[in-house]
Amino acid sequence: MMTSDSWKNSARRWVGSLLLALVLPAALANPEAVRLDRAPIDPSDMASLQRGAQHFMNYCLTCHSAQFARFDLLQRLGLTEGQVKKNLILTDAKIADYMTVALKPKDAKNWFGVPPPDLSVEARVRGANWLYTYLRSFYRDEHRDSGWNNLVFRGVAMPNVLWELQGEQVLQPAEGAKPGELHGGKLVLAKPGKLAPKEYDQFVADLVNYMVFMAEPARQTRFHIGYGVMIFLAIAFVITRALKKEYWKDVH
Ligand code: HEC
Repeated sequence: MMTSDSWKNSARRWVGSLLLALVLPAALANPEAVRLDRAPIDPSDMASLQRGAQHFMNYCLTCHSAQFARFDLLQRLGLTEGQVKKNLILTDAKIADYMTVALKPKDAKNWFGVPPPDLSVEARVRGANWLYTYLRSFYRDEHRDSGWNNLVFRGVAMPNVLWELQGEQVLQPAEGAKPGELHGGKLVLAKPGKLAPKEYDQFVADLVNYMVFMAEPARQTRFHIGYGVMIFLAIAFVITRALKKEYWKDVH
């Protein structure tokens, strides 16, 4: 049997580890970590997904592959085979082909130092909010070979491939910050791009919406099945309850 002292001790230990678990993540967090913006995406918005697919094919598939996804997947976004072939396959790939990339890993390594990773399931690896913030956080940095840096991914080897649309941001250090210190610095649009900031945010949101879909195309179907099952269970409950009442009505 436990004495009251050992109870106290184990309670103390328990509370101690609970506090540690609460405090530790905050203590370990990188003080320079950037707060992520919430990605304003809607997985049931077909028009947004179609625009996102178009952006992805135009701007990303040139360097990155998505080799676990096939082009015919795009038909699930309410597009016909003809529309996919005409608007979304920009190479001589066939509709049943995987979204591979012509860029050879060796060339990519020579050009960028790091090969661009496959993006098939990137949205599940990093999360939608990370992607949304990352694609809006590039800024000019003359110390980098590419001329670009990113607040969310320090020293990234990817240049801002969307700069014509977004424009050029620069990092304005916080007041009183030492040279090279990032904390509290903010991004300022130094040269506007073709899109207004709001339009650019929408552009990125559509792109991220598509990347989330690509990373888990069955997600919507799963939700629909889930709702179907809930409705079925609700109806079954009403019927079973009525039956039970009927069977037991003479027992009492
Ligand atoms: C000019 C080639 C190029 C293009 C075009 C390009 N990227 Fe990249 N991207 C790279 C390279 C190189 C890296 C590797 C960066 C590193 O690890 O430092 C990268 C890295 C990334 C990463 C981070 C991967 C990770 O988790 O480490 C994401 C996300 C990404 N790219 C998304 C995109 C999206 C979305 C587009 C289309 C708008 C795009 N990229 C277009 C070259 C490119």
